[in-house]
Amino acid sequence: MAETVEIFEMGPRDGLQNEKRLIPAGEKIALVDLLSTAGFRRIEVTSFVSPKWVPQMADAAQVMAGIRRVPGISYAVLTPNMKGYDGAKQAAADEVAIFASASEGFSKANLNATIAESLQRLAPVAEAARADGIPVRGYVSVVTDCPFDGPTPPENVARVAAALRDMGCYEISLGDTIGQGRPDTIDAMLSAVLQELPAGQLAGHYHDTSGRALQNIEASLARGLRVFDAAVGGLGGCPYAPGAKGNVATEAVAAYLASQGYQTGLDMAVIDKAADMARAMRVGA
Ligand code: HMG
Ligand code: MG
Repeated sequence: MAETVEIFEMGPRDGLQNEKRLIPAGEKIALVDLLSTAGFRRIEVTSFVSPKWVPQMADAAQVMAGIRRVPGISYAVLTPNMKGYDGAKQAAADEVAIFASASEGFSKANLNATIAESLQRLAPVAEAARADGIPVRGYVSVVTDCPFDGPTPPENVARVAAALRDMGCYEISLGDTIGQGRPDTIDAMLSAVLQELPAGQLAGHYHDTSGRALQNIEASLARGLRVFDAAVGGLGGCPYAPGAKGNVATEAVAAYLASQGYQTGLDMAVIDKAADMARAMRVGA
């Protein structure tokens, strides 16, 4: 039996959050509903963040209310603070994600807080989720390179990942937010993080700005990671990370994994259709 590698679909959230055109909720719902037929176990649907910071995600509650939920799929949302958590809970999100940065520069730009302040703000979210029985995933951003502070020391990533683990995150997703990582810097970063957490609790979240995301996935597979975040159509980027392009495309990751003998359980015909749909949403077709 081929070994399984899971792709966590990011398209509706990381893929769309940076689009200039305000995409109607109905289009987002149609994309999530199509993705729900592709074989994913987890789909990140939207973010309960400040609409002043990310206007594209202002319709989070409407999108969550409109999707047709398939049993067995976890519909995830981002929550930066208690206000976001309350929205996520009200929307009956299956899991929430809290996110922090490995660099001070990006923490300030994305969360208007130092790393320490952001962790303090996230602790009650993790606490409330634990009390409510809602699983929490954690993100660490700029794991190899920061657009403000330059190269990120691997031990800083390990420290923030461990802090999120200590708060109760069941998995930590490691974000190469601006897609500047290389197999050697990804490997050095993983070597530090693996001192704190086993590979089974880690995911790779690689943006493809420099076209190296698949090489970085290869390096991560060699370190034992078996979960990767990706977005159909390769859309996306973080509005607070200058130069950040899209997540690595789900269709490219799935094809690469298949070529390496891994199974993803995904229906490629549906993935291709969803990638077309996502790309069309960019221009408002
Ligand atoms: P702040 O301005 O310091 O917060 O932002 P505040 O508490 O002063 O609130 C400002 C206003 O926002 C207030 O409204 C709040 O009520 C409102 P006002 O009183 O002025 O009318 N507000 C909210 N509204 C709805 N939902 C909320 C919420 N929170 C506050 N949850 C804050 C601090 C954290 C809120 C802000 O910086 C923020 O929302 N940041 C999120 C930025 C973001 O979403 N970035 C993209 C996602 S992260 C990413 O893409 C990286 C990732 O993909 C991994 C990788 O690639 O590395 C995950
Ligand atoms: Mg991202």
